[in-house]
Amino acid sequence: MVRSTILTSALGLLSVVSLGAAAPLDTRADAATTVKVMPFGASIIEITCWRAYLWKKLQDSGIHNIDFVGSHGTPAAGCTLNGQAVSFDKDNEGHSGAKVTDYANHDALPAWLSAAKPDMIIMHVGTNDAAANISTAKVFSAYDKLVRQMRAANPRTALVASKLIPIDPERFGRAVADRINDYNYAMEGWVKRTTTAQSPIVLVDLHAGFDYKTMTREGEHPNEKGDVFMAGKLFPAVKDQLVKLSVQKLMGKQR
Ligand SMILES: *[C@@H]1O[C@H](CO)[C@@H](O)[C@H](O)[C@H]1NC(C)=O
Repeated sequence: MVRSTILTSALGLLSVVSLGAAAPLDTRADAATTVKVMPFGASIIEITCWRAYLWKKLQDSGIHNIDFVGSHGTPAAGCTLNGQAVSFDKDNEGHSGAKVTDYANHDALPAWLSAAKPDMIIMHVGTNDAAANISTAKVFSAYDKLVRQMRAANPRTALVASKLIPIDPERFGRAVADRINDYNYAMEGWVKRTTTAQSPIVLVDLHAGFDYKTMTREGEHPNEKGDVFMAGKLFPAVKDQLVKLSVQKLMGKQR
């Protein structure tokens, strides 16, 4: 394609999306425009099926130029929705039991970033820090370090940061549930302070509307209903960033 055609299709893509037109957005999968997306966090990333449902929603809306990336593919058993198997790209960087403060203290992220080269990171991490009574200040200096590492690996990293889903205070303690609320409150200001034009951070509130009584398996990890909720909440923000990154790739700005 000549340059002007590339730009025209890029702008066409933008207008289709920004006008919310009914025509499906059909981005073709090829090496030049594939957007690599790393789901990053702990067990709520590793062992759950919201990634499958998000993948399906993206495919169903005509977005095919995506590659979920990370050092392993889980859950091993796959995912079903209403009893039907859902095929999806299982790659992710969720590690059960991990704390965001451990990731920062152990410098775990740079090697994963250089192996997987994500354009976008979907992050839900901090529940295990809350369970371990880690202070909000420590958690947010860890987030700061991780963002610096993301931007060092790719200055145009798009980060979809999420508020933590709630936990059952009767099973896990009121103090842990309250600490999750404290982190979530602090995250609003942190996103505003930390986002940049070049490397946007968008906040998705996975806490509001998430009912731990009906949407978790055991008060902590989402069940099918919770996974559907998470995918639905994440979808608009992920799609929006995917479109922007696709346009940057079409225009040759992204690597
Ligand atoms: C949590 O940490 C705070 C501050 O360090 C401390 O005052 C509090 O006793 C701790 N709570 C638990 C349950 O360990």
